Amino acid sequence: MKILAIESSCDETAAAVIEDGRIIRSSVIDSQVEEHKLYGGVVPEIASRRHAENICAVVQKALEDAQETFQSIDAIAVTYAPGLIGALLVGLNYAKGVALASGKPLIPVHHIRGHIAANYLTHPDLKPPFLCLVVSGGHSHIIKVNDYTKFEILGRTRDDAAGEAFDKAARVLGFTYPGGIFIDKAAQQGVRGQYKLPKPRVNGAELDFSFSGLKTAVINISHHAQQKGEELNVNNLAADFQGTVADILTDHLMRAAEQSHSDKIVVAGGVSANSGLRSALEKACAQRGYQLYMPKLSLCGDNAAMIGSQAYYEYLAGARADLSLNGVASMPVDQAFADLQI
Ligand code: KG4
Ligand code: ZN
Repeated sequence: MKILAIESSCDETAAAVIEDGRIIRSSVIDSQVEEHKLYGGVVPEIASRRHAENICAVVQKALEDAQETFQSIDAIAVTYAPGLIGALLVGLNYAKGVALASGKPLIPVHHIRGHIAANYLTHPDLKPPFLCLVVSGGHSHIIKVNDYTKFEILGRTRDDAAGEAFDKAARVLGFTYPGGIFIDKAAQQGVRGQYKLPKPRVNGAELDFSFSGLKTAVINISHHAQQKGEELNVNNLAADFQGTVADILTDHLMRAAEQSHSDKIVVAGGVSANSGLRSALEKACAQRGYQLYMPKLSLCGDNAAMIGSQAYYEYLAGARADLSLNGVASMPVDQAFADLQI
């Protein structure tokens, strides 16, 4: 089954053709990041406008690269939640137009479910059940993936998402948006141990995360250094920050694995590209004899290939949208499309 997938939930306009949920026939990503960089973050109005300008060409390229047409594909998939509403609506209305004109089924896909599915494209043998850490710019979750479309949230962030914490810390250290990758590069040049950072816990919910205190600690260290006229060792502070985030994420994930008797561990989302997190997870899983699955780097960030992969399993489970489909800015990953009142 060939699915044309469309993703426009944030600042990437993306389209892909995916076969049977596992084979990437094409994947096109048009990133707006250079423009949003000027403002230190994504400007929703600009994102929507750029999606509207770019979407036709991006979809056309994805079809051409796969040597397919609107007639030859079997279904259209689109991210409908969560995300910036104006941005989501561009991809969604384009997909509805294609579905109407072609008469092909329209499959609604949750963005975070898509991030998890990036692993199905990387690891042909991976099947649920497994335990998944999702760490992106807007989400930090520990999720029990019981089946392709059955999710159970075991832990979540109470404040900032992991990616958000990386981006905010990066800004303090003088890096441009999105700063996660710059912290990663700086951390690789630094050594841990110079700066003391907290490892905040959430009372009574040991699998939940709280990253805002960590971000504040980085801000305070930077301000104190400025006030005292001391030079900040950016590489060492990046190494301490990244190491602490990786320790917290790994520690909570290993507790969740123990509690839920899971020995198959998966990681997903933009922050899963982080070298410190990847090596901390590799070490922890090797020590315990767990199998670890991570998306290849090109599939960690936002893309439409992951949406096309998840769409295949949503389709098999019966998810179909009609032309009343609407975008939803915020929606838990375990909410079924069928139960949605929109
Ligand atoms: O999943 P994603 O592309 O978009 C959302 O759905 O939010 O995640 C973007 C986030 C940003 O916060 C970005 O800084 C972070 O992923 N990120 C990284 C790295 N690469 C991207 N964070 C840490 N280390 C990286 N190498
Ligand atoms: Zn994302």
